[in-house]
Formats: sequence, structure tokens, C-alpha cells
Amino acid sequence: MTNQDNAKKLAGEASLSHIENGMTIGLGSGSTVYWMIRKLGEHARAGLDVKGIPSSWQSAAWANEYGVPLTDFSEAQKLDVAIDGADEVDGQWDLIKGGGGALAREKIIAAAARKFVVIVDESKLVSRLGDFKLPVEILPFGWEATAGQIAELDCNPILRCNDDNSVFVSDNGNYIVDCDFGAIQEPTTLHQQLKQLTGVVEDGLFPDMADEVIVGYHGRVEVLRG
Ligand code: A5P
Repeated sequence: MTNQDNAKKLAGEASLSHIENGMTIGLGSGSTVYWMIRKLGEHARAGLDVKGIPSSWQSAAWANEYGVPLTDFSEAQKLDVAIDGADEVDGQWDLIKGGGGALAREKIIAAAARKFVVIVDESKLVSRLGDFKLPVEILPFGWEATAGQIAELDCNPILRCNDDNSVFVSDNGNYIVDCDFGAIQEPTTLHQQLKQLTGVVEDGLFPDMADEVIVGYHGRVEVLRG
């Protein structure tokens, strides 16, 4: 295991301190969340009574594989806690997410949670958001026009493609454009500007949503609380 994987594993597993019997848990997506789901499955198999709402097909598959019972929003509209990774975390705990393309479901889950816990390895900490290109999920219909509107906010949106050059399609059947805005001075303002555009489903900025950030380093974790 690489040092970075070790750091992700420690952060993911440390987040289980937020979980109690009877909870409904938002399951984020990505390689850090993988370790959280795996450990949660161990506890569930040992008798812990929890249910998860997954933010991606991949997370649902991991939950099934490791024994985390799943539910959905028809049964629970409020979640006790959501636990998710991030692509960048700044000093105010504003986030960029969506590297895996699950940003819309991740944001719905985070918004429905009483507590939103972010798990990252130290490489995700930044002084200012924007080195990581901002993912924006858009409707396939008229995507070129929507991308054109996004470009007017002063970036160059690139349609996300798979390794075989086919267009990447999100779990919601939408496209993602990855946008280089340079250093993002005002995450909340940019988020609001993007959300106003017709054709934009969701953007990967999560300003002022995180309640706690658990940072994994090689061999230890640090818990950042407000
Ligand atoms: C998925 O769409 C993302 O928001 C992930 O949470 C983010 O990319 C972090 O992934 P890793 O834990 O794999 O770095």
C-alpha cells in the first residue's frame, strides 16, 4: 500500500467515530470512501444496525460487497451523517468535488445530512481552490450551448471523456465539463453564478457545507473541527 493509500485508509476508518447504532448514513464516493464503507461493513456484519444511502453505483456496489445495508430517500429524507471525500479542501473548508463524477448525488446527500464529514489525505489540502479543474454536471441536450455559457464566466470547459474517448456519462445520465477557473477567489459567488445557468445540473463547489474534516497522513490522522 502506498503512503497515500495508507493516509486515505486512516481518514476513512477514523470517520466511523461518528457512527452510532440506528443511524442512516450518506455514503460518498471515491477511493477514500472505499475504506470507510469497507470498515462500516465489518461493523454491520458484527451487528451494528445502520443503513446507507449511496451517492454512486460504485459506492452501492462496495456497500453490497462489504455488507452495509442500503436504503433510499423514499424511506429517509434526513440523514444522521454523510461521509465523503473531496478533491480540494481550502482553509475555510470549502471544497471542490466531482473528480469521480458523482457531485450531484454527493451534494444532495451532504445537504440532507445533519452532519457532513469530509475525509481526505493531506494532498487535498490547498490554500485556495482551483488547481483541480472544477467539475460541472450539465444536461446532454444542448451541452455545447451550456458549455458556452459557462465559458463566459471566464474558463475553458472541457467535456469529460473516458479513456476510450467516449463521452463520460454520470450516474444521472448527464455530461461533465471540467473547468479551469484559475484560483477561485469567491467559491460561493462562482457556485451561485454556475447554478443560475440553464442546462447546469450541479457544480462541484461545496462552499460552507463541511462540519468536520478528517485529514489522513502516513500513520496518523488529524481531525479539524469548527
Ligand atoms: C467523486 O465524485 C468525488 O467527489 C470524490 O469524493 C473525490 O474525487 C475524492 O476522491 P478520492 O477519495 O478517490 O480522492
